[in-house]
Amino acid sequence: MAEIKTLGVLTSGGDCAGLNAVIRAIAYHAIQFYGWKVLGILDGTAGLIERPLRYRELTLDTFDGRLLRESGTFLGTTSKGNPLHYAMPDGSFRDLSPEFAEGVRQLGLDALIAIGGDGSMRIVSKLCEHAGMPLVGVPKTIDNDVHCTEYSVGFATAISVVTEALDRLQPTAASHHRVMILEVMGRDTGHIALNGGIAGGADIILVPELPYSVAGVARRINELLQQGRTHALVTVAEGVKTEEGLKATVPNPAGKCWGGIGHYLMDKLAPLTTAETRVTILGHVQRGGTPSPRDRLLASSFGVHAVQMVAQGRFFRMAAWHDRGVIDVPLAEVTKGARTLDPDDPLIGTARGLGIHLGDERIKARD
Ligand code: F6P
Repeated sequence: MAEIKTLGVLTSGGDCAGLNAVIRAIAYHAIQFYGWKVLGILDGTAGLIERPLRYRELTLDTFDGRLLRESGTFLGTTSKGNPLHYAMPDGSFRDLSPEFAEGVRQLGLDALIAIGGDGSMRIVSKLCEHAGMPLVGVPKTIDNDVHCTEYSVGFATAISVVTEALDRLQPTAASHHRVMILEVMGRDTGHIALNGGIAGGADIILVPELPYSVAGVARRINELLQQGRTHALVTVAEGVKTEEGLKATVPNPAGKCWGGIGHYLMDKLAPLTTAETRVTILGHVQRGGTPSPRDRLLASSFGVHAVQMVAQGRFFRMAAWHDRGVIDVPLAEVTKGARTLDPDDPLIGTARGLGIHLGDERIKARD
């Protein structure tokens, strides 16, 4: 058993629904079952690096009932800059690990739980190794692309948002006999597009992991029209590239938000199909909303498990969902980039079985 008196918790990277539910579960378990003091670090690692230190003590009263139901993170987060290679105003770069280590020491933290995606886990692991600070990770990201876990916090709610968007697009598509392209998040992976697309009845789903051709997409739309369908729904992940393999637009200043593949497709499809096409970019709407029951359950299970990992000294590991329960895995296994869609993902078979065009079949058939 590790000797813990004070536990730190922070959220890092893009927010999502269910983060507050994880923080709540951590505080509830740590305070009620172990009697630890729990400090919530504000704005991710920035709260420990900047001076004055920014944090607040979490008590049972902090969670007045609302936070379980609210998305975002009441501790704040940051996805800007890399504290290991931080851009200084004079153009030089600095490693802020010493500031982090000093912050941890000043707060008297005995262990830290970081709730983040794979990029955050990589950075926080390095900072904690340098500071000699025991770390436990909890996976979150609407993209669901963290390795070694079947689900990350935020994904289930994002899927509900995508499904609802398609539910709203279908009647207007049908009324106007239009093709509706819904561009969803998924910087490197197609988990949101595939899951949300199937749930929302998309006819065509494009993901970064599977090749596609505009001609193939147009052929499928025209086929549907010939079969008597008056409209079609397309779901495309933002990380899908143009046919030439380029990002569809210039990235935002953070180099992250690619957006634009929906409009690229609309333009390219125009001469190839008689159907009128419209584009909706769902964007950050997918990160908000009321956390779904599935995300609250995941968040609660991860939070309790993470505290138990701390109590048992299982450090530099991450809580993970596997086969209907929580396990934990070494952080080194997690921090190796994004978990892309497995070509054997059962949902790919489901989509094909439903006749959903995933882009690749046509290319294979032509070869
Ligand atoms: O990683 C989650 C994610 O939502 C991506 O799908 C998206 O590209 C990115 O975050 C957007 O991040 P930002 O908050 O920097 O706009």
